[in-house]
Amino acid sequence: MPTALITGPTSGIGNAFARRLASDGWDLVLVARDSARLDRVAADLRAASGVEVETFPADLAAESGRNAVAERLADDERPVDLLVNNAGMAGPGSLLLSDFGAEDAALSVLVRAVLQLSHTAVRAMAARGHGGIINVSSVAGYVPRGTYSASKAYVTNFTESLAEEARGTGVRVVVTCPGFTRTEFHARAGFETDSIPDFLWLSADRVVDDALDALRRGRVVTVPGLQWKVIVAAAKHLPVRSITRATRKLGRQTRDQISTRTERTR
Ligand SMILES: NC(=O)c1ccc[n+]([C@@H]2O[C@H](COP(=O)([O-])OP(=O)(O)OC[C@H]3O[C@@H](n4cnc5c(N)ncnc54)[C@H](OP(=O)(O)O)[C@@H]3O)[C@@H](O)[C@H]2O)c1
Repeated sequence: MPTALITGPTSGIGNAFARRLASDGWDLVLVARDSARLDRVAADLRAASGVEVETFPADLAAESGRNAVAERLADDERPVDLLVNNAGMAGPGSLLLSDFGAEDAALSVLVRAVLQLSHTAVRAMAARGHGGIINVSSVAGYVPRGTYSASKAYVTNFTESLAEEARGTGVRVVVTCPGFTRTEFHARAGFETDSIPDFLWLSADRVVDDALDALRRGRVVTVPGLQWKVIVAAAKHLPVRSITRATRKLGRQTRDQISTRTERTR
C-alpha cells in the first residue's frame, strides 16, 4: 500500500485528505500537536478503512518538531509516497499590534515547515523515481494582506518552482489555493465570518477532490471553485489598493479582535 504523510489531519482540510486517502487504500502518517486528538482520528480511520495509521505528534513551529518529521520522511525503510503540507493557522494580525514571537511561530509553520518537508521529500522521492507533494496555500497569497498572505504567496511561488525542478524525476508537485473553507480555521483565530456570503464558502472535501484531481492530471496550481477562479483572475488585474480595501470588508478583523488574539498567543 502507498503511504501518505499529512500535516494537520485532525480537522478541516487535512482531515478531509486523511479520510479520502484512507478510503482509497492509502496507509497514513498523521502529524499534529494534539496527540490525544491524533489518536482518536487514527482509530476512526483504521475502523472505517482498515488501513495502517501511524500517529506522529509534533509541533511544526518548533525546529525539533520539523526535524523529527523530516527524519521520518527521509526514512527509506518506511517510504512516504505522498506528502501533504497542510498544517496552518491564521496569522497574528496587524504588524502594528502583533507579538513578534507569534509572527515567528506562524512563519515557521506556514513557510519553514513547507520548505524543509518539501526539500526532504522531493529528494527521497526523486531517488525512488516516483512520489507526490501537495502544498496547501491560499487565495490569500494573491492579495497583499499581512504576513499570512505573504507566507501563502511564498508557498504558491515556491511550489511552482519546485514543480519545474522536479520535472522528469517522477515526482508530481501541486499547490492548491482555496478561498474560504468551512473548517476550524476561523473559529480558532477568533474571526467573525457572518459577513462572508454563502456562495464564497467551499467544503474541505471539495478542496481535496480538486487537489487530488490536479495531482492525477499533472496540473501544478489549482484554485478550487469557479467563484474563486474568477476572483483570482480579477485580482491579478486590479490595482493592489482596491483589492486590499475589498478584502478588508470580508472576514473583517477589528483592532480589538487582533489585540485579543495577540493576548491569547502570548
Ligand atoms: N479554512 C480556510 O478558509 C482556508 C482557506 C485557504 C487556505 N487554508 C489553509 O488550509 C490549511 C488547513 O487549515 P484548515 O482550514 O483545515 O484549519 P484547521 O481546521 O484549523 O486545521 C488546522 C490543522 O493544522 C494543525 N496544526 C496547527 N498548528 C500546528 C503546528 N504548529 N504544528 C503541527 N500541526 C499544526 C492542527 O492540529 P493541532 O492544533 O493539533 O496541531 C489541525 O490539524 C492551512 O494551511 C490554511 O492556511 C484554509
